[in-house]
Amino acid sequence: MTRKLYIETYGCQMNVADSEVVASVLGEEHYEITDNESEADLVLINTCSIRDNAEQRIWNRLDALKHNKKINPGLKVGIIGCMAERLGDKLTDNKLVNIVAGPDAYRKLPNMLSLADTGTSAVDTELSKEETYAGILPKRLEDNAFGGFVSISRGCNNFCTYCIVPYTRGRERSRDPEDVLNEVKALINTGHKEVTLLGQNVNSYHYKTGNTDMDFPDLLKSVSKLDTSVRIRFTTSHPKDISDKLIETIAETENICNHIHLPVQSGSSRMLNLMNRKYDRDWYLERIRKIRELIPNCGITTDVFCGFHDESEADHEQTLSLMKEVRFDWAFMFKYSERAGTYAATHLKDNVPEEVKTKRLQEIIALQRELSLKSNRADIGKTFTVLAEGISKKSDKELFGRNEQNKAVVFPKADYKPGDYVKVSVTDCSSATLRGILA
Ligand code: 5AD
Ligand code: SF4
Repeated sequence: MTRKLYIETYGCQMNVADSEVVASVLGEEHYEITDNESEADLVLINTCSIRDNAEQRIWNRLDALKHNKKINPGLKVGIIGCMAERLGDKLTDNKLVNIVAGPDAYRKLPNMLSLADTGTSAVDTELSKEETYAGILPKRLEDNAFGGFVSISRGCNNFCTYCIVPYTRGRERSRDPEDVLNEVKALINTGHKEVTLLGQNVNSYHYKTGNTDMDFPDLLKSVSKLDTSVRIRFTTSHPKDISDKLIETIAETENICNHIHLPVQSGSSRMLNLMNRKYDRDWYLERIRKIRELIPNCGITTDVFCGFHDESEADHEQTLSLMKEVRFDWAFMFKYSERAGTYAATHLKDNVPEEVKTKRLQEIIALQRELSLKSNRADIGKTFTVLAEGISKKSDKELFGRNEQNKAVVFPKADYKPGDYVKVSVTDCSSATLRGILA
């Protein structure tokens, strides 16, 4: 009998890719994906623990699901992903959740569902040193019709002192390049026009067995050769090991997008040291200089957060000054959120008052808006190839898409449709979007 599965994904792109692994594993068990939550026999929520507010959203969502279960008492609810890993069986206390599966337990979901059918809740938060979901071809979900994600490694070995990820996703493992290439080929064969390779730290990708010895630039190069009309992206790079070889590979390969997301976190070397980032301000600025030298039109984006342990006004000023010096095109900006279980939670007091964090974040956001606007204004008059992703929200006569630098671009639809590559000349902009005409 076919049962209906509704999957909802929160957090990072890694979770999007994982939901596709889960859809594939459960597809084998005759679960069919539905985008209508009310007809689902099984609702899975793929969760994120990176900051407290990410978890709060999920708790609110679970409250809402209680209503669904009242209407359909046979409904099964599962929590998967990072919050499942972090909280384990605490999530089953509310009599709503039947299944709790951490990021390395997805192959076991069919057995867990059988157990849940008997009325017992099933919890598996075992982390593995080996699990890479080898041999599972992810089932692509509707939302990513033209852009697909492929994970190239799992887990993280960096142990930044503030970060929960090494505890929720375990040790770093690089996937077999053959599996990666097969997944990319499958995406290309189903009409995808852009593929993003994913890992917590793609630069430390390394796969060595028998005759194979591949680092990340090697893998990127092989992937890019499969079909040169398909764009390749990757995320996330760690500044401590973004190599010249990688920058050169991007520079010399036409279909690898000229965009690097390079999370800086803070502009203060003192903070970076407390965060265990293993680079300092000068190192970061030198890497940016190298990128700009070899790839002059490279889009550069970042993650930055304020209010970490002991952050002073002078440290914060350093962050603002680094942002100005780099001139980031775009940034994800946060306030520090202490996560139980991390090194910082036990050793580095969360001692910056909330109102100071708020004030600093506002300053960071205001500055980034200015920088994004400046960067976008500098694009007026330039022509970009844009991959159309969908109809613009404001007008059905316009499409939106992204250029190589990952900037959002809105342009006239004419005879184009989502999935097409379109040449667009930029005529206008806001801090968030470029606007243009067909070139
Ligand atoms: N508090 C706030 N932001 C965090 N990040 C990671 N951990 C925390 C935390 N405890 C941010 C970092 C990272 C991004 C994914 O989330 O900037 O790059
Ligand atoms: Fe959230 Fe990090 Fe887990 Fe991704 S890896 S879901 S960002 S906690």
